[in-house]
Amino acid sequence: MAEAKKLFIKTYGCQMNVYDSERMAEALGASGYQVTGMPEDADMILLNTCHIREKAAEKVYSELGRFKPLKAANPDLKIGVAGCVAQAEGAEIMRRQPLVDLVVGPQTYHRLPAMEAAVRAGARAVDTEFPEEDKFEHLPKGPRAKRAPAAFLTVQEGCDKFCAFCVVPYTRGAEVSRPVARLLAEAQGLVERGVREITLLGQNVNAYHGGGPEGGTWGLARLIRELAQLEGLERIRYTTSHPNDMEDDLIAAHGDEPRLMPYLHLPVQSGSDRILKAMNRKHTAEDYLRLIERLRAARPDLLLSGDFIVGFPGETDQDFEDTLALVREVGYGQAYSFKYSARPGTPAAERKGVDDAVASERLQRLQALLGQQQRAAQDAMVGRVVHVLFEKPGRIAGQMVGKSDYLHAVHVTDPRILRGDIRVVRITESGPNSLGGVLV
Ligand code: 5AD
Ligand code: SF4
Repeated sequence: MAEAKKLFIKTYGCQMNVYDSERMAEALGASGYQVTGMPEDADMILLNTCHIREKAAEKVYSELGRFKPLKAANPDLKIGVAGCVAQAEGAEIMRRQPLVDLVVGPQTYHRLPAMEAAVRAGARAVDTEFPEEDKFEHLPKGPRAKRAPAAFLTVQEGCDKFCAFCVVPYTRGAEVSRPVARLLAEAQGLVERGVREITLLGQNVNAYHGGGPEGGTWGLARLIRELAQLEGLERIRYTTSHPNDMEDDLIAAHGDEPRLMPYLHLPVQSGSDRILKAMNRKHTAEDYLRLIERLRAARPDLLLSGDFIVGFPGETDQDFEDTLALVREVGYGQAYSFKYSARPGTPAAERKGVDDAVASERLQRLQALLGQQQRAAQDAMVGRVVHVLFEKPGRIAGQMVGKSDYLHAVHVTDPRILRGDIRVVRITESGPNSLGGVLV
């Protein structure tokens, strides 16, 4: 057998890109590629890119520049750009960077093997179409290797919401849900390969409405309840959700489906009704707070996470104070916050932005508050008993690291723990980025 070709993939952005990178590696596995962690060994380098903020997109060009010496040393090296920057700026990438051989948008990964063959034959290839067929159904399957205990599963992709700041409806296209039967089969396959926790992914995951096995459509709650029946699948999570799609049965599932983990990422972006309106979020701060109340009524220990944007065009000091007030009222266990970044092609990009120094100062204040809340939530775990799914060895000999039900990283030093174990752990300490504990 010929020696395997080597593939190096670097992934930016969201968890969906992580999932997609795995699928691309499998697809190219069928063309004889093996994944390597070292770009200098690679026959093919793929950057799976993110376009969500300007900084994320810029990284691609600087990273590509760094591959120049590698290509000089190995003229057979092929370089590809995948993901959302590829979708948004494919032609420009080809123009700006002659060393790029291949550009593939997020909806055409199933065509990668053919594109790879074309670039091997000396062509440059670009494919950023939005084809009708589901790429996941048409991806070649590589070797069925054993998997890490926690995996992602894309159930829905794209977005029809058109928040005024966001590129996703343009880079990932319209909302599409994968059929239930396919997802159950894929989840079953994951479990057979050692997976015990699945995070269901979608840009708007709770808007999931996939075709059911006997006709009709299923919502996310029904899908979760069905997945929870799979023997060996102990934990289910989902991300990212929109508040307007948080339906009654999904809220109820947080209360009565023990395999659905008590952690929810529910972005609100702003606490000001004026700004929410300008963002085209189609809900108020009050709507969001009432929703959180209902979720907490179903599952009192639910740990909440969110996303915030500061410095959105038109944001006043009062609007920003409203955001801080909402954050204080909710009490987040964890959150992400960003300075607004104008994205070409989005409605908000046409509007006059907030002064950059003001936006930076707001971001600092918001992050200080969110940091305090995160710290408090973490410290409050000390003394509590949680379940931890152990995923990998830690830095100290005999130490294993995993995730609690609440998605906190937890390390325990105990030789009895194996990768993939779910153990009952008493939390004994709270560090800067993780918790420590002992087996109960
Ligand atoms: N500028 C800043 N942050 C953004 N996000 C999305 N688009 C932008 C933008 N143009 C943030 C939102 C979203 C998260 C994934 O990224 O908070 O929820
Ligand atoms: Fe970034 Fe959005 Fe693309 Fe994910 S879907 S990689 S967050 S632009």
